[in-house]
Amino acid sequence: MKHIDIKEIIANPEYIGKAVTVCGWVRTARNSKNVAFIELNDGTSLKHLQIVIDKASDIDFEPALHLGTSIKVEGEVVQARQDSVEINAQSITVIGTCPPEYPLQKKRHTLEFLRTMPHLRGRTNTFNAIMRVRSVMAQALHRYFAERNFVYINTPLITGSDCEGAGEMFQVTTIGYSTKYENENDYYADDFFGKKAGLSVSGQLEGEVAAMAMGKIYTFGPSFRAENSNTPKHLAEFWHVEPEIAFAEIGDVIEEAESMIKYVIRTVLDTCPNEMKFFDAHFENGLIDRLEDLISHEFGVISYTEAIKLLQESGEDFAYPVDWGCDLQTEHERYIAEKVFKKAVFVTDYPKEIKSFYMKQNPDGKTVAAVDLLVPGVGEIIGGSEREADYDKLVAAMEERNMNLSLYTDYLELRKYGSVPHGGFGLGFERLIMYVTGVSNIRDVILYPRTVGSIR
Ligand code: 4AD
Ligand code: MG
Repeated sequence: MKHIDIKEIIANPEYIGKAVTVCGWVRTARNSKNVAFIELNDGTSLKHLQIVIDKASDIDFEPALHLGTSIKVEGEVVQARQDSVEINAQSITVIGTCPPEYPLQKKRHTLEFLRTMPHLRGRTNTFNAIMRVRSVMAQALHRYFAERNFVYINTPLITGSDCEGAGEMFQVTTIGYSTKYENENDYYADDFFGKKAGLSVSGQLEGEVAAMAMGKIYTFGPSFRAENSNTPKHLAEFWHVEPEIAFAEIGDVIEEAESMIKYVIRTVLDTCPNEMKFFDAHFENGLIDRLEDLISHEFGVISYTEAIKLLQESGEDFAYPVDWGCDLQTEHERYIAEKVFKKAVFVTDYPKEIKSFYMKQNPDGKTVAAVDLLVPGVGEIIGGSEREADYDKLVAAMEERNMNLSLYTDYLELRKYGSVPHGGFGLGFERLIMYVTGVSNIRDVILYPRTVGSIR
């Protein structure tokens, strides 16, 4: 269908005076005495394009006045108030009618209501803005890494090894309900891969394989976690950005994370001013100033041990007790980011017991070279570390955790053949979108959220 994107018509004054064809969905319609108005949106722009219909003309406009109807309009672009343009319609064709039971009749719906209709909510201003910002952020991430010689790697989604060791893997099997097997091993041996397989929680282990060849790599794909966490920041399927850098120590990893986050936010502020004004007005007052402020200052850095001290001295009444060795809960993370630093902050050097087997062991024998990035409003958005590059130390850490070493032979061999200091991190893409848009529930920044007990 030959037509011009509404975004182009709004952005380019050279269309004024020209005859154009546009297509879109009717967002609002007004029928007054001599003229009728339609606000048309084709998804390319947060702003609608106003269509003006002279009722004295022979245009059959009545069928086009129903919300949600898809139409094609031919007409002339004319200057309207100040900066905006509109179209004087010469003809209107209804492409798809839309009956009155179309659910998006009101001007504003709650996010909860919209969550019940993932197939339609994209047609609201809110989701139009979220999806565009999401797309711009994804492209900014690819550009960021490409400009810095990172190779984009696609790691397997089906895996035989649990990267995080937290037991949160979805199982992949082709065997349905069966009483045929005496024990687990017989069952797995008979299954599709001949052994137990699952959906990967992280591409890191294979990412390290690639980094030991290409030097600097990143992955950007879905990770899957069967976490029983029904919270505003957990998805069972989330998008994961995981850079891995050879010849790098923990300080290099932190530097990379900070500059990546700043680059993405700068890009969104520059590329999506209308969307960001929309979020500032409707989701978080002062959002743009907060982000401008964030990218013009250094992020905070604090060790886990110091953070625990601050939490214990805070006088706050936390739901989860704070002791050295405990995992930081969202309430603790938010206190550190919101009350203490009032900005993004890296927390480093966590107790080895609460972190994964692959992290570099610090000389104190108690902590590992881990780093989490915490931000106000969300908590953890990045988790990373320097990796243990020493074969014997890595094997010892895995044995302490009773891991099955035979599932990790490739990973261990990297420490035998030209091992180098290296590290990386994982960014939860949806969590960064929450932070950038001020949208407070992760279910609202992805087209189809998958969460415990819910799939559509
Ligand atoms: O901290 P995590 O578990 O770290 C890893 O997976 C490492 N292998 C990453 C690496 O070093 N390459 O997860 C990384 C990030 C978290 O900080 C969080 O932002 C996000 O992934 N994340 C989730 N996002 C949404 N829903 C979930 N269930 C998430 N689990 C983790
Ligand atoms: Mg983590």
